Amino acid sequence: MSTKDNLKEAFAGESQANMKYLAFAKKAQAEGLSSIARLFTATAEAETIHANLHLNALGEIKTTAENLITAKAGETHEFESMYPPFVEEAKKDGDQKALRAFQYAVEAEKVHAKLYAQAAEEVDKKVEHDYYLCPVCGNIEIDQVSDKCFICGVPGNKFIKY
Ligand SMILES: [Fe+2]
Ligand SMILES: [Fe+2]
Repeated sequence: MSTKDNLKEAFAGESQANMKYLAFAKKAQAEGLSSIARLFTATAEAETIHANLHLNALGEIKTTAENLITAKAGETHEFESMYPPFVEEAKKDGDQKALRAFQYAVEAEKVHAKLYAQAAEEVDKKVEHDYYLCPVCGNIEIDQVSDKCFICGVPGNKFIKY
């Protein structure tokens, strides 16, 4: 293992710990354990700091124009290659939770790739947009929100504006 491999592994581990702790914090909050929720939230933020240091040491944070290309490639890999076989296997296994998770992701990643492509084209023009995130499936709409999410059907007024 090289230091580069170590950084990649550490980045993956810290990123996963971040997501896990945020989910655990939400659960603790729902159970009325607010101090433990804050511990999970603070630790999640600490793992983000570590993940950022690792990613930076890897030299993977470049110019925004370059980052948009990288981000679009990642999303495209996910919806073209990664998720379709996952969807099929979940169907075969009859795992409804996994199937819905993969179907939401595969559809949302197509949208993400498109938005990154558009942003990459506009990066020099400094165009301003509003983005609206569907809190259920991860779909993102640009500039205006629909009556309901075209992926999961959630009403547009539930979308979160960025
Ligand atoms: Fe995505
Ligand atoms: Fe949605």
